[in-house]
Amino acid sequence: MKKLLLIGMFVIFLYPLVIVSQGIAAAAEPIKIGYLAPYVGVYAKNGKDLTDGFKLYLDEIGYKVAGREIVLITEDDEMKPEVGTTKARKLVEKDRVHMLAGIIHSGVAYAIKDYVNNNKMPLILTNAGAAKLTAQDKSPYIFRVSFVNGQQDLAGGWYAYAKLGIRKVLMMFPDYSAGHEKADGFKRGFKAMGGEIVAEIFPPLGTTDYGPYLAKVVDYAGKVDRVWMFFSGSDAVRSIVQYSEYGLKDKIKLFVIGDTVDETFISSQKDAALGVESYLHYTPTLDTPENKRFVKAYTDKYRNEPGQFSEQAYIGAKAIVKALEAIKGKVEDRDAFMKALRDVKFEAPQGPFRFDNNQNVVQNVYIRRVEKKGEKYVNTVFDMVPDVDQFWTPKK
Ligand code: BEZ
Repeated sequence: MKKLLLIGMFVIFLYPLVIVSQGIAAAAEPIKIGYLAPYVGVYAKNGKDLTDGFKLYLDEIGYKVAGREIVLITEDDEMKPEVGTTKARKLVEKDRVHMLAGIIHSGVAYAIKDYVNNNKMPLILTNAGAAKLTAQDKSPYIFRVSFVNGQQDLAGGWYAYAKLGIRKVLMMFPDYSAGHEKADGFKRGFKAMGGEIVAEIFPPLGTTDYGPYLAKVVDYAGKVDRVWMFFSGSDAVRSIVQYSEYGLKDKIKLFVIGDTVDETFISSQKDAALGVESYLHYTPTLDTPENKRFVKAYTDKYRNEPGQFSEQAYIGAKAIVKALEAIKGKVEDRDAFMKALRDVKFEAPQGPFRFDNNQNVVQNVYIRRVEKKGEKYVNTVFDMVPDVDQFWTPKK
């Protein structure tokens, strides 16, 4: 009888307390984000910026959303598809992250696509432009806040012909998926207007001596209006500096995708980059209140200006957090999280942020020129192509 009474009391008074405290423990469990970026190799600087920008937004919100702590776990994917896959597995299966984010190199993004799909794991790309992932190989689990390789280039190719009067172009880019995809985008935009691609030169990613390739470019002086380039990381610094050292800067002007002269690199390229015209979705010189606030916060924290990678990552973190806010932090409901993420809209440093129907960012493309202001090299915006999505079509 006494025993029954005790059980009854437990059921009535204590059991609800146990359940409530378990609920609180579950609600208080951190939201874990697994972040992949390269911290070695050609894109090591890109990877650092990609991480710093992401962390800046999390810092601003005190690593908390809807009463839950956010834990960021970073892993070095070394720009290698097989390392990226192993690290993604580790983050998901050992660290039990709720989502993956980051990635600079398209090869890594392509490599983990099936793993992400099979495990229904949300992946928010903050750089890798691997074009198929938000087009023919799209997945409900893959989002991209940065760009599709070729997206900005469609607008850049159109602009070159329609606004700069460029008719003949020689193209130089690294020989891997991102290089070819970006070049294809530019070609589509440029050729649709009647432009001619006279030659294409694609050195391996991570080339240290561009001399043998630049020797070929010399032959085209007087035969092309511009050399178009896409290089990033240490390739961007070397290609631009060596182009100038080779005496080519005065022979054939450059018109490049802005990665090549991003703020991350122009302070090393210095005068070799002066005057280079480019197109990109971001530059810290944008004169908007949100950008000024972001640039100040970033510069105060890291003592250098943000470039595209930091800004992309910053808006990636913000998009994730806005979606988490909308679902009151219940990240375990993946479908609700992904639906909320699709609907996120806000004013980003680069301009208005939103996704298209394939979960890829729609963005303004700014046309810029490298100038020197005091001791500083900057990309000054002189025109803009608004609202460019991955299927943007040239306007005749
Ligand atoms: C890419 O691999 O998609 C990529 C790498 C660096 C800059 C831009 C794109």
